[in-house]
Formats: sequence, C-alpha cells, structure tokens
Amino acid sequence: PEFDLAIRGGTVVTAADTLRAEIGIRDGRIVTVAERVADAARTVDASGLLVLPGGIDSHVHIAQPSGPGIVMADDFASATRAAAAGGNTCVMPFALQPRGASLREAAEAYRALAEGQCHVDVAIHLIVSDPTEAVLGQELPALIAAGYTSFKVFMTYDDLVLNDRQILDVFDVARREGARVMVHAEGYDAIRYLSERLEKAGETRPFGHALSRPQLVEREAAHRAISHAELVDLDIVIVHVSGEQAMEQIAWAQGRGLKIHAETCPQYLTLTADDMKGIGDDPMSGAKYVCSPPPRDAASQAAIWSGLQRGVFEVVSSDHCPFRYDDPAGKLNPRGKTSFRWIPNGIPGIETRLPVLFSEGVSTGRITLNQFAALTATNHAKLYGLYLRKGSIGPGFDADLTLWDPNHRETIRQAALHHGADYTPWEGFQVTGWPVMTIARGRVIAEDGRVLSEPGQGRVLDRSLAPG
Ligand code: URP
Ligand code: ZN
Ligand code: ZN
Ligand code: ZN
Repeated sequence: PEFDLAIRGGTVVTAADTLRAEIGIRDGRIVTVAERVADAARTVDASGLLVLPGGIDSHVHIAQPSGPGIVMADDFASATRAAAAGGNTCVMPFALQPRGASLREAAEAYRALAEGQCHVDVAIHLIVSDPTEAVLGQELPALIAAGYTSFKVFMTYDDLVLNDRQILDVFDVARREGARVMVHAEGYDAIRYLSERLEKAGETRPFGHALSRPQLVEREAAHRAISHAELVDLDIVIVHVSGEQAMEQIAWAQGRGLKIHAETCPQYLTLTADDMKGIGDDPMSGAKYVCSPPPRDAASQAAIWSGLQRGVFEVVSSDHCPFRYDDPAGKLNPRGKTSFRWIPNGIPGIETRLPVLFSEGVSTGRITLNQFAALTATNHAKLYGLYLRKGSIGPGFDADLTLWDPNHRETIRQAALHHGADYTPWEGFQVTGWPVMTIARGRVIAEDGRVLSEPGQGRVLDRSLAPG
C-alpha cells in the first residue's frame, strides 16, 4: 500500500479550513490531504468525527524544582501520558535556571530528564532567573543557536524575579539573537506589600492568595513589560493573562502597532477567585485552585472570551503546574497551612485544556472550530518555531492529529485522568466534545482514554528560530 495510515470519513479542521477530506500518512508525516487517498496498511474510520491538528500546549511545567520540601506531581512520563490522553501531541515545558547556576547546565540536565520518557513530542523553553554577564554574553546566545529559541522571565517570585534592568538586558539578547520571550507579568513588590498586610490582619487562608494579587498588580506589570518591549523593539508573549485589566493593556499596545502576543488559559474562562474560599467549612480546600495569576470573576471571564473572539489572544495553554493536594510535599504542606504564601502556585490542566475550551468555546458558539485549531495548535507552532513541522494538517506536517467527537458528553473526573496530581480543579465539570483518538507522528498513542504509547515514543525537538 502507498500509505501506512489513512484517515477517512472525517471532517478535517485547520485554522483556515473545515472540509471533508481523507489524509494519507507515510513515515510519520502527512503526504496527502485529498477527497480520496490511495490504499493504506491501516485505515481509521473518522465518520462523525472532527480531525484536528494535535494539541500543542506551549506552557506546561513538568518536574520543575518548586522550593524546599515541595515536589511537582508530574514527571515527563506522567505529564506526557496525560497530554496524550487529552488530545495533545506536543508540549512545551521549562528548563529552570536556579540562581547561581549555569543556564546551559540546567538546560542539558532537563533535556536528559526528558529523553526516553515522553509519550508526545517535547520542545523545551528556558527560564532565565540569573542573567549574569556569562549568561547574557555566552550561554544564552549559544543556547538559542542550539535550538532553545524561547525563554520565560518572571516579574515576581522570590527565586525568579528579575528587576527592570535585568529584563531590558535579557530582552536585548532576545532581539539580537531572534528568540521568543514569554513574560510572567505580576508586580513583585506590590504582591509582597499586600501579602504582608494580609498576614498581619490574620488573612492567611488560601483565599488570601487572590487578595494578594489583585488585577492591578497584573495590569501594572503587563504595562511595564510592554514598555520595556517597545523600548528594546522586541515582540514578547505575555502569558497566562487572567483578567480584563491586563488584557486592556495588551489590546492598547496591539492597537498602537506593537507586536505583543498574549496567552490565556482555561482557568481564566471557567474558575473564579471564590473557588479559593474552599468548600463548606474547609477553607484549606481552596488551595486546589491557588495559581498565579489567580482566576478572577465572571466579568473577567467574559472579557477574556471577547479577547479570544477579537484575536487579542493567540494561544490558549494549560499552564499545567501540578501539585498533589493531600500531601505534605504539595498544596497541604505544613507551612502552607500557616499562610497562603507557602502554598505552591499552580494547577493541573494538561489533559482537560482541550475539552474545557472546546465545550465552553466551540459547543456554546463563542469561537469557531477554526479558531479552536488556531488557539490550541497552529498559533503555538507559529509562535515557538515549530510551524511547517507541527500545528496544522497538510503535506509535510508531522502526522499529529486528534480525532474529536463534538457530540460526546462527558463529566470530568479525577479518577479517569492520567496526570500525577490527586485532584482536578474541574471535578464534576460537564463538557460536550471529547478526544477519541490521538495520533502522533502517524501512530495511535491514545484511544478512548487509554494511552497506548510507550515512554520514549515522543522526541525532544530541536527548533528553528521563531518567525516574527
Ligand atoms: O501558578 C502558576 N501558574 N504556577 C506556574 C508557574 C507560572 O508562573 O507559570
Ligand atoms: Zn508564570
Ligand atoms: Zn506557568
Ligand atoms: Zn462519544
């Protein structure tokens, strides 16, 4: 037969088109998309299903150092297993440079951790926490040239925060070398001021986390990051935008012709600050929702939807950052019980991103199928230098596909998920639309919630430079 695999009978969806077509796959790549394709060794019947580009999640945290006594709940095997089950074929985690350490060594060690462990392809971003002369002058340019073409900087967190001059210097290297910078925009000093004031007033519950990081903290930092980017003449990505106020800054900058890219996440469309109050007489259960920036309110959810519709946001990522809840190394660590300040930030979402966004976005008519493909795959590939290999369905692309049942109703349950966390923030959440098969480089890696791949089937990718 001419092909290893043919997908027949489905509706192929890309960022640009929705069409009835067959797909012919050979050696892990798409060879043909046509009305009819030739014989194949295996045929998958996609009747009644959508054929989407495999999900690309360009913002996830896997096995990342998270402070003394705290352990992230996923390693590469469990995170990428969950990703596969959730319809994803590529994820992008972060190699974190600890302060005082070499960025290059951090990148190499992290890559070694990933090799041989992954169910889906992985492309690694860097986190620059210590932009020394050696990092700015040698390590970072060399890493960018070696294919680590994107990195994240933080405007908050004790161990990660960069001051304004450091941000400008890092931006400058990125502009010269052609790298993509992601910015965590929340103002460090304002958060510390508010946190200390809340603690003095006895507000130590998980809900205090939301009070310590109001929208203006994010709005101010977003504006500052935009100004720095304009000064250096660099395109940046402002990640995990949570609310109306930061979004207004971004829309304002885009309106002035600045290339400010933006990402949001399902939590900012479906959760609110009130979730951090916990359930019933158990305020600590609110720790399950503690992430940064914190989810806001219904008005912000509506604003973020309108930003998705208007194109303010190019990508929806999970910001998967999993910690176990009922665990001394997780959300309920001993210090975390004394103050929200010590609850590790982040929530699991790698497996639920696509169903939550499809259900709340496409099934409700808020966004189109083509917008869904762009927001969950195509634009991730374009932003981070993977396009023409990944992110769409066409000749030459990797055969990374998700077969999607738009009518399948499901209730999200922790018991059915594959991640290493012991809870999901979306427990009991009902969705319409579900991934029924994930195909990665031409191989079926997940079907009906069962993961069929072996760790190591996914590769650690090298990347070309990201286009402007
Ligand atoms: O709370 C969050 N989002 N933790 C993950 C780290 C980050 O800032 O993205
Ligand atoms: Zn962040
Ligand atoms: Zn993150
Ligand atoms: Zn079904």
